[in-house]
Amino acid sequence: MTMRPKFLLTLMAVSLLAACMTVLFADTQEPTLKDAFKGDFLIGAAINSAQIYGRDTAGDALLEKQFNAISPENVLKWGVVHPEPDRYDFDAADHYVALGEKYHMSILGHNLVWHSQTPRWVFQDANGKPLTRDALLNRMHDHIQTVVGRYKGRIQSWDVVNEALNDDGTLRQSQWLKIIGPDYIAKAFEYAHEADPSAELNYNDYSLENEPKRNGAIKLIQQLKAEGVPISAVGLQGHDKMDWPTVDQEDATIEAFAKLGLKVKISELDIDVLPSASQNRGADVSQNYELLAKLNPYAKGLPDSVQQDLAKRYADLFRVFLKHKDVVTRVTFWGVNDGDSWLNNWPVRGRTSYPLLFDRNNQPKPAFYAVIKVAGQDAGKK
Ligand code: GLA
Repeated sequence: MTMRPKFLLTLMAVSLLAACMTVLFADTQEPTLKDAFKGDFLIGAAINSAQIYGRDTAGDALLEKQFNAISPENVLKWGVVHPEPDRYDFDAADHYVALGEKYHMSILGHNLVWHSQTPRWVFQDANGKPLTRDALLNRMHDHIQTVVGRYKGRIQSWDVVNEALNDDGTLRQSQWLKIIGPDYIAKAFEYAHEADPSAELNYNDYSLENEPKRNGAIKLIQQLKAEGVPISAVGLQGHDKMDWPTVDQEDATIEAFAKLGLKVKISELDIDVLPSASQNRGADVSQNYELLAKLNPYAKGLPDSVQQDLAKRYADLFRVFLKHKDVVTRVTFWGVNDGDSWLNNWPVRGRTSYPLLFDRNNQPKPAFYAVIKVAGQDAGKK
């Protein structure tokens, strides 16, 4: 008889302990990026067609769990959404936006005006002759009105102009520049603003961490702002290497754009751990096979030491992003898991690349835990 209350008490204590452990265990087992950086910045991923159309169910589950923002890897680029002069194809883009709404995510549009993945006809008349300035401006206006207008109020942020600069900071000699002149950039922003006055409008580019290109971007943006052009943010693509950009370069770059009164997005983040292929350009075909093996050293898996180096590298960069959380509004990875990454096929086709936080089975890598840890160490955390 005297044992009974004691037994009940023990039982209650054990259940309480088990409940606490479940909560603790669940917490330590299941950290999420979006929760870790809540109140700091959004955590985004670029998504592909398989994810957009729901064919990659595991990828979608990971996306829903870990991220609160999306970018379209390809489906809003001109060539996909507007393949012929009188034909738009919104099927994939509609699914993309619907997916973002279903998961209550911040939805980004990428992109409106770019030199690449834009069909040749865009710059030509019906006879294949170059368009006049006015005709190309009209075409740009129609495209932006139609695409931005369709998703007005649903896509919150647009990459209006992508990659307008050369490495030395001068304007890239694109068809846009050649036919319209340098004010094509201002016009694109004005048209986008006209189509959705509440959308946030971005200039997006790579290698802005390098001083000559960064200075070119600063000059360009100062000029746009002086003319009253509605630009609100700069996207630093963030296709990074293990040794580039340095932490100091990243820090100085974010600071420089913040000084212009812009928000900063890390818009296409990935970190390439594979050997650089550039010095091997021009090799003949037979040599290429040999080179491919040399350039693809981790085909059978990433050694632990490299996993750890990548984790440290990610942590270093996230410390800089957090330092600037007052201006950094989102950090978007260019893909959900390593298998999705464009770096498996660029600049060399068929390599096995490891640039993201989740492996090919959607499992978190050491880099994931390193990034989560940085969020936890942030002193200014609310
Ligand atoms: C650039 C573009 C992206 C994408 C990547 C590679 O950074 O902005 O849309 O094409 O190249 O995937």
